[in-house]
Amino acid sequence: MKAKIIDYDDVGYGVIKNSGKVCFVSKSLLDEEVEIKPVLEEKKYSIYKVERVIKKSPLRVESFCPYSNKCNGCNFDICTYQDGLKIKEQVLKRKFSQNKINIPNFTITPNLNSLGYRNKISLKVENYQVGFYEEKSHNFFPINKCPLAKDAINNLIKNFSLMAFSKGELTVRCNDNDELLLIINTEYKVNIKKELFTKCKIAGIVLNQKNYYLDSFLYERRKNLIYKVSYDSFFQVNQYISELIASYILEFINKDSIVLDAYCGVGFLTLKCASKAQQAVGIEIVKNAILDALNNQKINKINNVTFHLGKVENIVDKINEKFTEVIVDPPRNGLDKKTLKYLIAKEIPKIIYISCNPLTLIRDLKILKEKYEVIDIKGFDMFSYTKHVECVCILNLKKHK
Ligand SMILES: C[S@@+](CC[C@H](N)C(=O)[O-])C[C@H]1O[C@@H](n2cnc3c(N)ncnc32)[C@H](O)[C@@H]1O
Repeated sequence: MKAKIIDYDDVGYGVIKNSGKVCFVSKSLLDEEVEIKPVLEEKKYSIYKVERVIKKSPLRVESFCPYSNKCNGCNFDICTYQDGLKIKEQVLKRKFSQNKINIPNFTITPNLNSLGYRNKISLKVENYQVGFYEEKSHNFFPINKCPLAKDAINNLIKNFSLMAFSKGELTVRCNDNDELLLIINTEYKVNIKKELFTKCKIAGIVLNQKNYYLDSFLYERRKNLIYKVSYDSFFQVNQYISELIASYILEFINKDSIVLDAYCGVGFLTLKCASKAQQAVGIEIVKNAILDALNNQKINKINNVTFHLGKVENIVDKINEKFTEVIVDPPRNGLDKKTLKYLIAKEIPKIIYISCNPLTLIRDLKILKEKYEVIDIKGFDMFSYTKHVECVCILNLKKHK
């Protein structure tokens, strides 16, 4: 089918006119004429991919990725890094203003290394090869590298035959010292050759959720702090950008602050805040992440912190502190109703909302605006070349009239 891209959607996919149904085209640019094929057809919307570009946008460039035609991890590998960033910035700015969130100077801070930045990658294994699935499908394609991943991860991918197993999943995590943690899920035999350990710095292997070789965690050094990160604990994928975000957040914390870091992971932000604040409290649902956080508190000799294991929505109103700042950094689906209700009721002087999904951020801001005023939203290009953007939103409690 032939189509013309008439707009971008909220994440930068091309939009086409198609008899009333909403249709998105991945990896397409405004004003392009393209031949497309469907990858997902739902009642209310369809997603297409480009088969052939008939009329190119002047922004279109050759992708740096040999798998660009099959892989949908990146949406903006079809233009320069700067142009892709501009599109992400424009679509978000428009979305904020459509929702009456007034951020005229919204910008996205660029990534210093727009390639080779990811410290974690999740791969599929089929037929003793490692790769990904095509968009919205189980069509496997093998890869020799992913240009977004750190070199040490690509070196492991290159040497995958030394640990080959026939089918399953492989997640590779890499720390600042290029040590690797391999997390394998498979029903099949795993045969790891000794040579792998001379080619790659393997800190540990976890097989089907169990410790298989050496450690089941990595240590990450960030500025003056060390973090233990277990195989199933969350850790930000982009070191440079996560440090920029942390520095920005610390601007709002002072020596009298009593900070709640909801959704705290291994305490990445909690410990940074504690170093500046009177007190900090972290809440996290993953047991290993909270055990890591407690360990991180100890090894970094930080005493003014407490951590709680559980769901934010079940725990937060049982903590008897008068928080001056609350940091919320929820997963993509944003804040649940109970947590929003707590934030509205508690009238916290400042909320710092970190979001990897601007659409749920906007949804939640509409509720929080009953008591809070959006002071600023800054974008950070945590996931360069992909359609994702990390936003940090600063909310102040409205003054009573
Ligand atoms: C986006 S990560 C943020 C982690 C942390 N702020 C950081 O920068 O490393 C979200 C974290 O929330 C945790 N989480 C998800 N749902 C939760 C819930 N209902 N209550 C508490 N933690 C939750 C996840 O396990 C994950 O560690």
